[in-house]
Formats: sequence, structure tokens, C-alpha cells
Amino acid sequence: MLALFTYLYYHFAMAKIITVQKGTKDILPTEMDSWHFIEDAANRVFSRAGFKEIRTPIFEATELFARGVGDTTDIVNKEMYTFEKSERSLTLRPENTAGVVRSYIENGMHRLPAPVKLWYKGPMFRYERPQAGRQRQFHQVGMEMFGIAQPTADVEAISLAVSYLNEIGLNDLDVEINSLGCPTCREEYKTKLKAILKPYLQDLCPDCQKRYEKNPLRLLDCKVEDCKAIYEKPEVKEVITSEFICPECHDHFEAVKKYLDVLGIKYSVNKLLVRGLDYYNRTVFEIKSNNLGSQNAVCGGGRYDSLVRNLGGEDTPAVGFAMGMERLISLLPAREAQKLDAYVVSTNQEEAIKLVGDMRKSGLSVDFDMTNKKFTKQLEKASKVARFAVILGEDEIQNGTVSVKNLANSEQISAKREELGSLIK
Ligand code: HAM
Repeated sequence: MLALFTYLYYHFAMAKIITVQKGTKDILPTEMDSWHFIEDAANRVFSRAGFKEIRTPIFEATELFARGVGDTTDIVNKEMYTFEKSERSLTLRPENTAGVVRSYIENGMHRLPAPVKLWYKGPMFRYERPQAGRQRQFHQVGMEMFGIAQPTADVEAISLAVSYLNEIGLNDLDVEINSLGCPTCREEYKTKLKAILKPYLQDLCPDCQKRYEKNPLRLLDCKVEDCKAIYEKPEVKEVITSEFICPECHDHFEAVKKYLDVLGIKYSVNKLLVRGLDYYNRTVFEIKSNNLGSQNAVCGGGRYDSLVRNLGGEDTPAVGFAMGMERLISLLPAREAQKLDAYVVSTNQEEAIKLVGDMRKSGLSVDFDMTNKKFTKQLEKASKVARFAVILGEDEIQNGTVSVKNLANSEQISAKREELGSLIK
């Protein structure tokens, strides 16, 4: 009986705990070189354009996203990880534009000279159906720029996204742009859309029926086949693809296209590109890859001139974008894990540990065997993990030298300890 109890106790109480496998994953040390590669490139590219990094909390007041991202969006309605603490409703950030805007206002950044240029990287959380390229915890790298209403800012954002993608070796991508107009011209468009779709209302999917009332623009990117068929009907399509933007928005969009041409950035205009977040006006854009399957957007962004005011700040034009880091990594060739500069091989542990410390101080990456294995075993290990073996036998210890073996070609030379840094680097 006791044995059974003990078995059951260990089986259930000590059962191994695994990740919440739906939509989360460990990023393992073998993948880390790729992550560092794209993070370092982000730091370089954004710094070169005068951006400063910002890190905001991973959870914020739920109200921030409801008001910021919009309470008619899928993100706010279905996808937020929301929890209560001390009678406050908190939410794991599903995106970072709202958080950065909150910080911009809270920290008085509107008093800084415009433009205020901020970039970020970090985890985001959305309760979506997991599939290839779509996780529930994923990472974004992105930027937000405040204070410039001119189309040059829209183009600066798009060109920065393209520069970053090129910097990490992604060149074969499609840039799609659209203009959502301003609240005034968009209102007229929404009215026309609703009028033409009214006879089909019963045939739309439940989500579209809700969108019809609350945010008819979002009808355009519904993925349900029956809805898509309705939107393809000639009389409906004519309204959907009509040129609805007012002269000011039109001029703004034309200027964006002109500057993109000047920069030699290829793009196409996609009239159905409406984006899944409510804060946008005028220019929106996405950058897509043909090698990603159905979740093909690596980057999404646009202008959002009302968000700062809607979140309690002063009227401030703004533009930004974010990219899915997992999607970027999946498009890159696998990177070989970096080897150590050197592995110290010695059966004299006291001398080895001293030498390792000195070499690390001089900036080299170095390891050694902490269990004092046989010399040949240590050499074997060295050839797997390091570029050079630094051999410290009794002779070397006697005369204050080391033998340095290049593990790529087996060449071996004798050297003074103080020469190691320059020799190996
Ligand atoms: P978004 O289009 O929702 O925009 O996300 C930007 C990018 O994040 C997407 O293009 C995609 O690469 C990646 N992404 C989104 N959801 C997932 C997911 N579940 N799994 C993996 N990757 C995902 C925004 O988030 C806006 N805040 C962008 C922005 C910044 N607009 C202005 N400023």
C-alpha cells in the first residue's frame, strides 16, 4: 500500500512540467546567435537613423489597449491575455504602439524637439489560433516616430523597415501600401460600403456582421470564403476599390509614392490593405514574403495621427511599424553556433584556472575542463568547442610559455602567455 502511495505521489506530484505548448516555445541556446544577429542589426540600423531604444512594461492597464488599439478589433475583443490584480484589470501587451504612446505622454516627451524617434524589441502576447508563423507569445522589433505630419515621415518609416530587412540579408520582399484617408473622408466611404452591403448582411459571417456595424473598413480583409465571394461581386467591388480619399489625403499619398520612387523602393498599392488595428489614418503598409505560407507579413505599420490625443496627450502626428522576429528568423539561413576563441588543455588545474581567468580578462572567450579529464579527452573537447587549444603542459609551466594549436589546420606554435590575446584575436 505504501509502495503504491509512494509511486502515485511521485508519478503525479513530481510529473514533469512542460511549456504551454499551444503557441509558446523556448528559444534555445542553439538559436541564440540568430536572435543576437537580428537584434544587433536593429540596434545598428535604428541608431544610424537617430532612434533611441525604449523598454516599456510587458503588462499595462487593459484600458490602454481597449482605447489605443480599438475595441472593435480582434486583438482587443478576442486575443488579449487579461487578468485582475488588486481590483485592476491588467493585460499582457498584444502590441507595443499603445505602450510607447502611453510612455511618450507620461514622460513628457512631447516637450522634446520633434521628431521623437523610439525603437523597441520584446515579447507580445495574443490569444490567436497557433499555426506556422503565428504564436501566442511572439517577439516584435519596431519603431515609433512622433511629431512629423509630412509624408517624408511615412517614407522614412517604410525606408527604415526596408533598410533593416536588407541589413539582415532579406531582399526579396513585397512592400504593399494603401491610404485609409482621414476620419472625414473615411466616414463617407464607410457609409457607401454599408449601403452597398446592406442587402447581403444576412450572408456575412458573424464577425463581419459585427464589423458592419462597428468598423465596416475591417470587412475588407475578412478571410472567410463566403464573405470574400460577396466582396468580389462587381457592384460591391466597385465601391470597395473606389478612390474615396479627400484631396489632402490624396496629395499626401501621392507624395509618399513619389518619395518611394525617388528612393528606388518598389511597392504596390493594395486597396484592401486596412490593417487590424483601429488607430491608423492615411498611409498604412505591410511587407510580405512569398516564403512564409499564409502568415506572410513580416512587417506592418502606418500613420496614426489621433492616437496620442486619444490616450490623453496633445495632438501629435505619428508613424511607426513592427516586425515579427520569429518570422524574420524563419526566413534567414541557420547560423552556425559561434565557437569559443580558446580551450585551455592542462592537467594542472591550478595553472589552468589562473590562465583561463587572465585570458578572459584580456577579452578572449575561453573555457577549460573542470573535472581534470585525461589530456587527450580535453584536446578532443577543445576541437569541438573552440578555434584554438591553448596547451599548458609541465614543460610550458616550467618555462612560462604555452603551446597554441590552431584547431582548423592543426598548426602548433609556442608562445608567451602575454602574446595570447593578440595571437588568437
Ligand atoms: P501587427 O501587424 O499586428 O502590427 O504586427 C506586426 C507584425 O508582428 C506582423 O507583421 C507579424 O510579422 C508579427 N506578428 C503579429 N502577430 C503575430 C503572431 N501571433 N505570431 C507571430 N508574429 C506575429 C502591430 O503590432 C503594430 N503595433 C505595428 C505598428 C507600429 N504600427 C504602428 N507602429
